[in-house]
Amino acid sequence: MTMAVTVKSSREIHLMREAGKRLAETHMMLKETVRPGISTWEIDRIGREFIEKMGCIPSFLNYNGYPNSICISLNDEVVHGIPSKDRIVEEGDIISLDAGLIYEGYHSDAARTYGVGRVSPEARKLMDVTKQSFFEGIRYAREGCHLFDISNAIASYAESFGYGVVRALVGHGIGSHLHEDPEVPNHRQRRRGILLKAGMTLAIEPMINIGRCDVAWLDDDWTVVTEDGSLSAHYENTVLITKGEPELLTIEPAGV
Ligand code: MF3
Ligand code: CO
Repeated sequence: MTMAVTVKSSREIHLMREAGKRLAETHMMLKETVRPGISTWEIDRIGREFIEKMGCIPSFLNYNGYPNSICISLNDEVVHGIPSKDRIVEEGDIISLDAGLIYEGYHSDAARTYGVGRVSPEARKLMDVTKQSFFEGIRYAREGCHLFDISNAIASYAESFGYGVVRALVGHGIGSHLHEDPEVPNHRQRRRGILLKAGMTLAIEPMINIGRCDVAWLDDDWTVVTEDGSLSAHYENTVLITKGEPELLTIEPAGV
């Protein structure tokens, strides 16, 4: 299905800001749950209850049959890990928490990757570079730039460290649907893509592997893992394009 890339009205932008603020709060809360000994099932339960208490809907729950509210992916898992009572978080793991919610019909989507206790310097560097690749990308997330300027900035930054940029999954437009046009690749593109306009809203989400870019799916048909078993990190925000600096709708307020 192709839909046109939409420019949101000021009412829609207001609702997406509200959705984003609530998701940022969810992530700040979830960060505190991450400790050795907790199961991924428990983190998901806490996240779902928090989202529902705010009167919002966890958008991943039952999305295309996904069984939970928070996608939790450890170590060599790239994205879409399924929470489980048997999956216990351990010191030294890296854990990606990907969450989405709906507020008054509008979506927000964001992911963070955390180290559990002390992690290896290699893991720390992967997480830092993945997050920074997002910020390199959004230097071009403004009216007048082209969509793939973002992709190329993410890719060249991550690749300069020898990392693999996942190609099989991409970011996306977001609004009254979780996934809208356009697709937002993180890997290098030959063209510059569509012209960005103020009012477009994008979920920009680099997924970066220490090793090669190739991924595989586990038998649960959801969990995406690196084919070579290397560690993978994920960082995502819902971003509003403006005529100037982009507005990060799901970012935690400074100083927390
Ligand atoms: N943030 C992911 C995405 O944008 C999560 C959605 S997958 C789901 O695609 F099925 F779990 F919802
Ligand atoms: Co997303």
